[in-house]
Amino acid sequence: MGNKTVLVSGGAGFIGSHVTVELAQAGYDVVMADNFSNCDETNYRGVCAILGRDLPLVRMDFCDEARVKALFAEFHIDAVIHFAAFKAVGESVREPLKYYRNNLLSFMNILENVRKIGGNVLFSSSATVYGEPDRLPVTEESPLQPATSPYGNTKQMCEDILRDSVKAYSGLRGIALRYFNPIGAHPSALIGELPRGVPNNLVPFITQTAIGKRACLSIFGNDYPTPDGTCLRDYIDIVDLAKAHVCAVTRMLEGRMDNAYEIFNIGTGRPVSVMELVNAFEKVNGVEINWQFAPRRAGDVTAVWADPSLACGKLGWKAERSIEETLAAAWAWEKKLANLA
Ligand code: WQD
Repeated sequence: MGNKTVLVSGGAGFIGSHVTVELAQAGYDVVMADNFSNCDETNYRGVCAILGRDLPLVRMDFCDEARVKALFAEFHIDAVIHFAAFKAVGESVREPLKYYRNNLLSFMNILENVRKIGGNVLFSSSATVYGEPDRLPVTEESPLQPATSPYGNTKQMCEDILRDSVKAYSGLRGIALRYFNPIGAHPSALIGELPRGVPNNLVPFITQTAIGKRACLSIFGNDYPTPDGTCLRDYIDIVDLAKAHVCAVTRMLEGRMDNAYEIFNIGTGRPVSVMELVNAFEKVNGVEINWQFAPRRAGDVTAVWADPSLACGKLGWKAERSIEETLAAAWAWEKKLANLA
C-alpha cells in the first residue's frame, strides 16, 4: 500500500508550509493548495528546497465549489488539514462579510467533499475561542467566551460546523487544534512568516524593529495585573506546532480516536510576558530592540496559556523547543529575508 495523501489547504502560508514539511518528512504524500491571496511563492519554494524535491502545488480558491470538487476527483485524499482562511483580527472587524464568506465557505466546501468519502479533517482553530479565561491554564473543557471579532467568531463557527458534521455524517472524523501563539521559523531559515504591511503580531514586529524596518516596538500596556504588568501568552514554536499536526493526522488515519470529533490545545503550558519575550530576544540574538510602553491594545486579554496535557497524553506530542531556540530561528529568518530583499 502506498503512502497516505494529505491535502493542506493554505499550504503556502506560515503554518501550512511548516506542516507540509513535517508531514512529508514523516512519510506522507502532501498536496499543497493555495490561492496566494495573502502570500507569495517564497514558502512553497522553501518547502521544496528543504525536502529536496518538488511537491504538487494546486493554485485554487476553496470558495470555488466546482474547483474543490474537481480537486477531490483528481487526487485520492486521505485527510485534509485546513488552513486556507483570512486571519487579521482588525480587518475582520472592518470587513466582517469578507471574513464570514471566505472562512466559512471554504471550510464547508471541503467538508462537503470529505463527508462523501468518509474522510478525515483537521481544523486549525485558535485559543482565541477561550477569550479572557477565568481559570488558568485553560483545558479543552474551559468555557468558550463570545468571540470579540468576526475572525474569532469564524474559528468558533468552524468548530461548530465540524462538530455537527461529524455527528451527522457517518465515517467523517474531525480534529480541531486550538493553537496558542505560534512563533518562530524553520531552523533552515528557508520558510517562515511573511506578514504583509505592518505586522499585527508581536514577534514579526520585534524582528522587523531589530532589522530596522520599524522604528520602535510599542509594548501595549504595562498596567495589567501580571508580575511585570505586560500581557502573558503561550508562545509555541512553529516546528513544534507543525509536529502536532502530524501526530493528530496519524491518530485519525490509524483509527485511534476516542471520539469522531476531538479537540486539543496546542501550546507549551508556559506563560511568557511581552517584556520577557523582548528581553529574551535581545539576549539570545545579541541585538537591541528600540521599544516603548504604549496604551493597551483594544481587545487584548490579560493572560492566556494552555494546559497541553491532553495533547501530550492522547497525541503523544509535546512542545520541545526552548523559547531561545525559537527566537533565534525567528531572527535568522528575518535576516534571511533582508538579504533576499
Ligand atoms: C501578543 C502580545 C499584545 C504586538 C493574535 C490573535 C490570535 C492568533 C494569534 C492568528 C499581546 C502584545 C503585540 C505589538 C505588543 N491569530 N503586542 N506590541 O493578540 O495574543 O493573538 O494572534 O492568526 O487569534 O488574536 O497575539 O502577537 O498580536 O500579541 O505589545 O506590536 O503582544 O498586546 O499581549 P495575540 P499578538
